[in-house]
Amino acid sequence: MAGETVVIAGGGQGGFQVAASLRQAGFDGRVLLIGDEPELPYQRPPLSKAYLSGQSSREMLSLRPEQFYADQQIELLAGERVTVIDRHRRRLQLASAGELGYDHLVLAVGARNRALPVPGADLDGVLGLRTVADADALRERLKGARDVAIVGAGFIGLEFAAVAAAQGLNVQVLEAARRPMSRAVSAHTSDYFTQAHTQSGVKFNFGACVVRLHGSGGRVTAVEIAGGQRLPADLVLVGIGVIPNTELAIAAELATGDGVLVDEHLVSSDPRVSAIGDCAQYPSRFTAGLIRLESVQNAVDQARTVAARLVGNGAPYAKVPWFWSDQGKLKLQIVGVIAGHDATVLRGDPDRGGFSVFCYRGGKLLGIESVNRPADHMVGRRLLSDGIGLTPEQAADEGFDLKAHAATPAKPSEHVA
Ligand code: APR
Repeated sequence: MAGETVVIAGGGQGGFQVAASLRQAGFDGRVLLIGDEPELPYQRPPLSKAYLSGQSSREMLSLRPEQFYADQQIELLAGERVTVIDRHRRRLQLASAGELGYDHLVLAVGARNRALPVPGADLDGVLGLRTVADADALRERLKGARDVAIVGAGFIGLEFAAVAAAQGLNVQVLEAARRPMSRAVSAHTSDYFTQAHTQSGVKFNFGACVVRLHGSGGRVTAVEIAGGQRLPADLVLVGIGVIPNTELAIAAELATGDGVLVDEHLVSSDPRVSAIGDCAQYPSRFTAGLIRLESVQNAVDQARTVAARLVGNGAPYAKVPWFWSDQGKLKLQIVGVIAGHDATVLRGDPDRGGFSVFCYRGGKLLGIESVNRPADHMVGRRLLSDGIGLTPEQAADEGFDLKAHAATPAKPSEHVA
C-alpha cells in the first residue's frame, strides 16, 4: 500500500481511528477522512451523560485538536459527504468537493436514529440524540422543560432519563417491550435498573405503543399511547434504536444485510472496500451467526484491524465485545454478547450496590453484566477473550478467586470455538 490513497468515509470514532492507526503504523500514502458533521471527530458516549448534564465541555469531546490532523497529514473533510461510490473507476463523488480517487475505501458511515413513525413526530420539542448538535438542542430544552416523555428504554432513553430526573423534571418512559434494555441485557439487570430509576422518580410504562404526539402552535404538548391515554410532555426524547447507513453500499452493489457484509478481516464483497463499526455486519467468534455491534470498542478495534491489514499486518478481527452505560450513580459494564442465554448466575449483592450477572448458554459462559463491579468486568474480558471456562458454581461462589482463575492459561478444550 506504499504511496497509495486510503479514503475513510465517516468521521466518527471508527473512521478517526483508522486514520490515526494508519499513521501510527507508518503508512506513508494519502489519508482522507470525510465526515458529514461540521466538527472535528468527537466522542459520542458523553453526549447522553456528562456532556448532556453540563459536566463536560465541548473541547473535552474532541478526540484530538485540529493541529493533530495537520501534523499527521490526515486530510480531514468535515461537513462533507460521500454521495456515490464508483467501484469500477475507484472514484467517489462528494456532495460539494467534486470527485476523488481511492486505492482503498473504508466505510465507517455508522448508523442513524430510527424515526418514530407516528403523526406529530415532527413537532417542535421532539428530539433524538446521536450528534453533538442533538445534545446541544436537548441541553437547551431541558432548561425550560417540566414534563419529559422518553420513547424507548434502551441505553439512550435510560441515560437521558437519569440526567432529566436529576434536574428535578417529571420523567415518563414509554417502552414497547416488557422491560428496559431488553436488546442487550438479561431480565435480572433490566429489573434492577427499573427499580433504581423508579426510586429516582422516573415513571415507566412498559408494553406501551405510542400512537400520536399532540401539539399546540407547532410545539409538542402530549404523547398519546394505545388505549387513548394522553401523557403531558413539553419535551419528547425518541430513543428507539438505530438503522445502519447502508445506502451508499447498496447503491454501489456491495453485499449488505443488517449492515455492510464483511468477512473476518472486515473486507466487503469488494477487496478494495472495508467496513467497520456500527455499519458493518461481520462473523464474530463470540456469536453463532453474523453480528452488527453498536459500540465504541467495536468501532475502535475494527479500525485498528483494518489499518494493520492495510500496512501488511492482516489478522482476523477477534476482539471480545464490551459496552458500558452510565445511568446516574449506576455504572453498567457488559462483556460478551448475551443474546440467547438460557441461564444466569448472580454474584454479589444487588441490595448493597454492586453485582454481576453471568449469562450462560448450554453451560458455556456468553457474557457478564456488571453493575458497579468493575473488577468482575475486567476479569470477564480476560475470561472471554482467552476462552477460559468458568462454571456457574464458580461464578456464584464469592469465595472463588476470579482474578487468579482468569490468570490461568486456558486449556485447549476451553477455547471459544
Ligand atoms: N415505542 C417504544 N419503544 C420502542 C419503540 C417504540 N415504537 N421501538 C423500539 N422501542 C424500544 C426497544 O424495545 C428498545 O428497548 O426502544 C429501545 C431502543 O434501545 P436501543 O436499541 O438500545 O437503542 P437506543 O437506546 O436508541 O440507542 C441507540 O446509541 O448508545 C448507543 O448503544 C446504543 O447504539 C445504541 C444507540
